[in-house]
Amino acid sequence: MKGITELLTCIQEISGGNYSNDIMQLTTDAYDPLIQELAESVGLMMVRIEAREFELEQANRDLQNNILATIRAVARGLSLRDPYTRGHGERVGIYCKRLARRLGWGRDDVWTVHVAGTLHDMGKIGFSDRLIQNIDTKVDDEMLSEIRQHPEWGFYMLRGLDFLGSALDYVRSHHERLDGTGYPNGLSGDDILPGARILSIADVFDAVTSTRSYQEAMDLDKAFAILRRLAGPSLDPDFVEVFISEIRENGLEDVENNFTTCAVHGSGPDESDK
Ligand SMILES: [Fe+2]
Repeated sequence: MKGITELLTCIQEISGGNYSNDIMQLTTDAYDPLIQELAESVGLMMVRIEAREFELEQANRDLQNNILATIRAVARGLSLRDPYTRGHGERVGIYCKRLARRLGWGRDDVWTVHVAGTLHDMGKIGFSDRLIQNIDTKVDDEMLSEIRQHPEWGFYMLRGLDFLGSALDYVRSHHERLDGTGYPNGLSGDDILPGARILSIADVFDAVTSTRSYQEAMDLDKAFAILRRLAGPSLDPDFVEVFISEIRENGLEDVENNFTTCAVHGSGPDESDK
């Protein structure tokens, strides 16, 4: 029967996910009525499957965006305890996303490192009031011990959230150094996952380009000099150069403009924490 081979080829293509319109050619009068009818039915089925796949993709995207918005809200909660971390998690998350994209990572991997960056310091919720209220750069052994535990505490907090995938490991390893002198596990070299290496760079960069209790925000040249000094012993040198190019081209992040008034405090942390 004329067209049966073409029809079979079209069906095989569709079953492989290639939704081309070739099938519609078989619905013309040039073909047997049975082939036309079959082609029309298969074409209709293809359109419905394609629409359903689009809907699922959109629903998945909405779900990821909602998860990210929730995570950002949780990260902002940390700033209610420690005003100097206000916006830090969100900015680090965005820097992670930008660097991962620039490195050519796929959409899901970019999302994962974005989430990890946003949540990386959540373990600081476990800091004592004494450490939170300390505005000096000097810390005693007890404080140092708390500081060194926060990546593990963050991991502990988030470990039941399996959908975060590798983000959990990135959070746990964001203070590891390539030379093995970091914490909490003294990992070195390739044992530190690329996502954690991205996160370390974003974290250092935001820390030096934002105002803290112990420093004014540095200008870009000084910040880049610090990143380059740390490249090798601490930070991934290749990633550092890619990150610097990204910042030179697209600039700094500023999430504070999106920080809305806090109903609990009336005037909101933006005003009261200056
Ligand atoms: Fe940290």
